[in-house]
Amino acid sequence: MNLLSSLSPFFLDWLDLIVRWFHIIVGIAWIGTSFYFNWLDSKLDRNIDEENIEGELWSVHSGGFYNINKLKGPPKEFPKELHWFKWEAYSTWLSGFILLVIVYYLNSESLLIDRSVLIINTWQAIIISLFFLFGSWFVYNFLCNSKLINNSIVFTSTCFILAIFICFILTHIFGSRAAYIHVGACLGTIMAANVFRVIIPSQKNMVDSALNNQKPNLQMGINAKNRSMHNNYITLPVVFIMISAHYPFTYGHEYNWLILVIISLSGALIRHYFNLRNKRKYKFWILPVAFSLMISLFFFTSLPKLYFNNINYIKNNEDVKFNEVKNIIKYRCGVCHAKNPTFEGLPSAPLGIIYDNENDILMNISKIKEQALDSDIMPPGNITGITKHERNKLRLWIKQGSKTNN
Ligand code: HEC
Repeated sequence: MNLLSSLSPFFLDWLDLIVRWFHIIVGIAWIGTSFYFNWLDSKLDRNIDEENIEGELWSVHSGGFYNINKLKGPPKEFPKELHWFKWEAYSTWLSGFILLVIVYYLNSESLLIDRSVLIINTWQAIIISLFFLFGSWFVYNFLCNSKLINNSIVFTSTCFILAIFICFILTHIFGSRAAYIHVGACLGTIMAANVFRVIIPSQKNMVDSALNNQKPNLQMGINAKNRSMHNNYITLPVVFIMISAHYPFTYGHEYNWLILVIISLSGALIRHYFNLRNKRKYKFWILPVAFSLMISLFFFTSLPKLYFNNINYIKNNEDVKFNEVKNIIKYRCGVCHAKNPTFEGLPSAPLGIIYDNENDILMNISKIKEQALDSDIMPPGNITGITKHERNKLRLWIKQGSKTNN
């Protein structure tokens, strides 16, 4: 038992690795087929003289020529094997959910909960997390089944406002990184549920009616088309959120919810441009608009920092001693980032980052700045209680040229 519990951190790390690997691979397969069929539909040559054929496409790939036909209706004779595309979606969602449990629920104290944002305990955090995951699907599904869906502008605006609300509220409940991932998980749940509850049932209905010589349910077909279009737009924001952990200047920003909204909007706009282009509508203005949104974010996140650095710190002419810096790092970071961490349950320094001696600090100044000064990501959930004053001291010390001889 003792051995088991001392192995558990390593076990969880390995489980994390395997599940994440799997999640990314099936996710690529899901998005890849979805992009492929979208592209295929837009590229079909529809000037075909055959009665039952809606369009045709020729392509060359991996050592062969492919000739693909899209039929106008069901095939006269059903093939022995008909390929469906559903397990990619289901397994992406399932593995994503397992990752959420491994990474966030099991490390809730350090990664999910941030007591400077909201004071909650592990169980409350998990219940809130599940509530948002499933709640967002119920609300979205309700909107899709309402009359709102008939007016695409009103429907899109309502969904967009709800998405802003979710970004805002989640960043005011969870730690910033967890909040971003939860927005992604809500969107991913909507996408997978669209496949499970609407798109696949409609395809089943199509196949069953063809086999029984009946007309397929038209409404089911329309719903499936809508949902698959929604999934298409959601893809880009979701993929950004999945990689957002690499960009602390986004989720670690004071207005992280607004940054997420604007990046997602740019992603959806770019998707919109390509969707229109596939219909041979060329709205070039969309690309510069999306690009300007990203550039304005760049200025929004960088300018105040430049201003702040120059005005506030120059005024402060106190000389920060290296000893003070070492002490701050030792007490606020060193409990985890040490060869032998004293933080409970931590077997080794996270990501191998160690601040045991002067050299460790000097070699890692830019990373320290990125994680603890330009953003407030470290310490996670400010678990060691670093103060604003201490962060300012570190900033000032770097500003003064990171001197070690004072
Ligand atoms: C409670 C333990 C803990 C404390 C305290 C802590 N960290 Fe971390 N740190 C972590 C964990 C866990 C990770 C790995 C996060 C991940 O998986 O992305 C990490 C990652 C990092 C990284 C690498 C980030 C990356 O993605 O490259 C840096 C740099 C870092 N911490 C700096 C600091 C600094 C500076 C402090 C003190 C101000 C600090 N940490 C305090 C637990 C801690």
